[in-house]
Amino acid sequence: MYEIGQAEIDALTKVINNRQFMRYRGGEGGFAENFEKSLCEKFQIRHSLTVNSGTSALICALAAMGIGPGDEVIVPAYTWVATAMATLAVGAVPIMADIDESLTIDPEDIKRKITPYTRAIIPVHMGNQPCNMDAIMALAEKHHLLVCEDACQACGVMYKGKRLGTIGHIGALSFNQYKNITCGEGGAVLTNDDRYYERALMYHDAGCFTRSHASTIKEPFFPGVNYRVSEIQGAILGEQLKRLDGIMADLQANRKIMAEVFAKTDLFQVVTHHDPANAANISGIFHDADTAKAFAEKHRVARIIESGRHVYTNWEPLLEQRAFHPQMNPFNWAHRKIEYTPDMCQKTLNILARAITFAPPYHVAPEVVRGNAEKLISL
Ligand SMILES: Cc1ncc(COP(=O)(O)O)c(C=O)c1O
Repeated sequence: MYEIGQAEIDALTKVINNRQFMRYRGGEGGFAENFEKSLCEKFQIRHSLTVNSGTSALICALAAMGIGPGDEVIVPAYTWVATAMATLAVGAVPIMADIDESLTIDPEDIKRKITPYTRAIIPVHMGNQPCNMDAIMALAEKHHLLVCEDACQACGVMYKGKRLGTIGHIGALSFNQYKNITCGEGGAVLTNDDRYYERALMYHDAGCFTRSHASTIKEPFFPGVNYRVSEIQGAILGEQLKRLDGIMADLQANRKIMAEVFAKTDLFQVVTHHDPANAANISGIFHDADTAKAFAEKHRVARIIESGRHVYTNWEPLLEQRAFHPQMNPFNWAHRKIEYTPDMCQKTLNILARAITFAPPYHVAPEVVRGNAEKLISL
């Protein structure tokens, strides 16, 4: 959470005074609907659908594109575990691909991981760091694959003139407490595809065939779940969205200062950025793991390898291929035996053991940002 205050309190007061919490009970023009309209406008996208988490957004996105049993979905070996779990939730299996020195999925390894059963790629923009979307979209086109961008950790970040999450066939955002904008728990599906939007709408709301908007839907109705948001989330998000560009501008300005300072050191290399003009984050890669470890200990920061369930080796329930019911186990529906081993993405482990993320601070005076960055490289 970067910023929250009176504007959100005022919006919530209105929701409470209205005594209307469910988004589809109040008719047109509710808070959730208005947020979606503003999100579409700001992100220059045809459709957005607010849901109750980023995980739900990923699941809706995959369901919308018809990904399911027998399908393989390529995900990075470095991401929050929910990316891979969303794949399992629709009955498909995740295939882990290495990251490269940009700390995002390596297009070369995506190529190697494609099989006749691959249907989709989920590039994940980790910690506001965009993936190499040009290369990924070209690969997807060549191999007839669908792209679901996981922009859960990068809401608002631009990549070559477009917002992350709006470049692939469909995208997912998260609004949980740690994200660029937040309502505690929440997410959104983004797409320019009318059909995918209708299918996501249906899936997120028990098939939505009883709603007033059902008459506008051209797809045959299928059953869904309940991933709806309430007007409480819609009201907070409406105000958070107004703050987003200011938050991004501040992070970018501080990142720029840090990059200027870090350019002077040989201690580590600043991580390659796929769109440096819009960079809102900064990480460093050290020559070897021991140097990175010593630096991390001295400055009381963590190496990325220590970031728990962001690293595939810590996804035990998934690596063990367990499911809540043996007959609902997507690994039984795969067209080939899927084997996971702890060293299957060794390149990722090697990079993460040498990498540290220095998140640019928010609302800190430029001279303090510069001074802290200088301290990091001089001590
Ligand atoms: C990369 C990534 N994908 C998906 C998610 C899932 O989002 P949520 O926690 O809102 O379900 C997260 C959340 O931390 C994330 O970081």
